[in-house]
Amino acid sequence: MITKEDIGRFEVCPTPFYFYDLALLDRTVRRAKQAAEKHGYILHFAMKANAIDPVLNVMKRNGLGVDCVSGAEVSKALDIGFAAESVAFAGVGKSDEEIVQAIASDIFTINAESLEELEVIEELAAGLGKKTRIAVRLNPDVDANTHKYITTGLEENKFGISGWQIDDVIAFIGKSSHLQLTGLHFHIGSQIRDLEPFKNLCGRINLALQRFADAGLPIEHVNAGGGLGIDYDHPDDEKDPDFEKFFDVFNELLDLKPSQTLHFELGRSLVAHCADLIARTLYIKKGLKTNFMILDAGMTELIRPALYQAIHSIENLSKRGEEEVERYDVVGPVCESSDCFGKAMQLPLSERGDLIAIRSAGAYGESMASHYNLRSLRPSVYRD
Ligand code: LLP
Repeated sequence: MITKEDIGRFEVCPTPFYFYDLALLDRTVRRAKQAAEKHGYILHFAMKANAIDPVLNVMKRNGLGVDCVSGAEVSKALDIGFAAESVAFAGVGKSDEEIVQAIASDIFTINAESLEELEVIEELAAGLGKKTRIAVRLNPDVDANTHKYITTGLEENKFGISGWQIDDVIAFIGKSSHLQLTGLHFHIGSQIRDLEPFKNLCGRINLALQRFADAGLPIEHVNAGGGLGIDYDHPDDEKDPDFEKFFDVFNELLDLKPSQTLHFELGRSLVAHCADLIARTLYIKKGLKTNFMILDAGMTELIRPALYQAIHSIENLSKRGEEEVERYDVVGPVCESSDCFGKAMQLPLSERGDLIAIRSAGAYGESMASHYNLRSLRPSVYRD
């Protein structure tokens, strides 16, 4: 919830900037942790969702591990002070340099996404004279029913190892001398609000566990990925998302041995609601059907609407409580037609200079910001 005091602070800040409510973040992370600990599950934070130091520090303070997808993220995690054994490293295109860095750092697991990558890890680990912990990321072929750009667990996706390749993977790991298989990794997609795909995922995980057990390859941990969605229409609902219900699905449906641990790598569900993008109205430009509200923030600061047709709730902070309303196409200043936050959005009658909040922008907001048109964000504002 953006308070009157916050708005007072914003009045003197150059826009556009991200506003972070770190106390809300802390509460959300604690809620997730509590729900996970009820079942003994281990949480990692998917750093790609947001990699700024204050956010990472909240995760570290609450004892979460990290999920990284680049060598730079691995370095950042270690620099911030996450224990190496809490860092997982996934990604379909790890460079040799990134793999060597991960092996040398003794992280929790390198999550291999193809047989070809396993061969390279084996070779590089041999070169370093080390045995390295790996997990294999399996493609469970589960439809996440989400936007096509953020679904990852279908057979034709580039992510993970497909069912038809598992026998070859098992054979390769069985004869390798530098790979220590510890886990199986899955991730079916992002912004998944219906729990059904996670139920299907559990079935696939059980089958995969059986297959590896039959092959005599013991599995110590399962990493079920992230993907839990949030309610973008209700940015101030502190009970969203429902972590309890999410973890209950796995508790009910997964056949794990008592010695096997279950890990999750949540991104959006932990950070989305804790930040808003704050902008100013530059112009209200008359249109034939709808007027345009032209902001000083655009797709360079928050690309989700342009890339995934995502709708974030928008609030005119300067006109709170005013009754006269109007419909606006809320757009940014960037030279692209897709630079649009929403069409015909109903907002209070607005004017130049109004402060506008684009809500629930803590996940994949700042971390996906770009310098297109040589634009840059202004310093973030924090509430502890
Ligand atoms: N694990 C892996 C292997 C992933 O690829 C991802 C996200 C996560 C965990 C975390 O997923 P989450 O809990 O945040 O759903 N930029 C897009 C989302 C891309 C998600 C990429 N992978 C968006 O703004 O909607």
